[in-house]
Amino acid sequence: MSKVELYTLIHVLAAIIWVGGAATSQVVALRLKKADPGHRLGFAKDMRFVAQWLFIPSAVVAFVFGSLLVEETPAFGYDQTWLVIGNTGLLVALLIAAGYLVPHIRKAIRLMESGQGEAAGATMRRVTVGARLVVLILIVIVWAMVAKPGL
Ligand code: HEM
Repeated sequence: MSKVELYTLIHVLAAIIWVGGAATSQVVALRLKKADPGHRLGFAKDMRFVAQWLFIPSAVVAFVFGSLLVEETPAFGYDQTWLVIGNTGLLVALLIAAGYLVPHIRKAIRLMESGQGEAAGATMRRVTVGARLVVLILIVIVWAMVAKPGL
């Protein structure tokens, strides 16, 4: 396997984990509407763990190996539309995940554990909006990576 093939493999695997995981977590979140408080708390704790220890590291790995790929491939340039979409989208999605979703999930967990179900529900609804925006951004990036506008 060549260096470029290995970088592409690691890049796409990291992207698959983030995009697939983020989309799946939204499907599971839909099922929470009818769930009991214990189940909601469990889901929130799992999502905090997964966001911190799987999605955010995957984003960093996708960025590092995407950049290595650009460095290795003379035809690719950071000023090309698809890579501007890739870099900007990844940065925005990462900032939403680390700067908005994780802190709000933590807050919702605290509220649920202190019996403030109403307030926790409102906080989790805001998390859902942010999480769905991240999924949308990631889908647009995958489109750009495949269609490569500006290449
Ligand atoms: C979350 C963000 C990203 C996702 C989901 C993603 C996803 C993908 C996917 C699915 C491919 C395979 C496309 C194909 O083979 O047709 C790909 C290829 C690639 N990506 Fe990304 N990517 C992301 C961010 C980035 C970033 C930030 C960079 C650059 C810094 C980058 C650089 C590349 C390069 C150079 C290729 C190889 C293209 C080729 O050889 O055809 N990607 N990416």
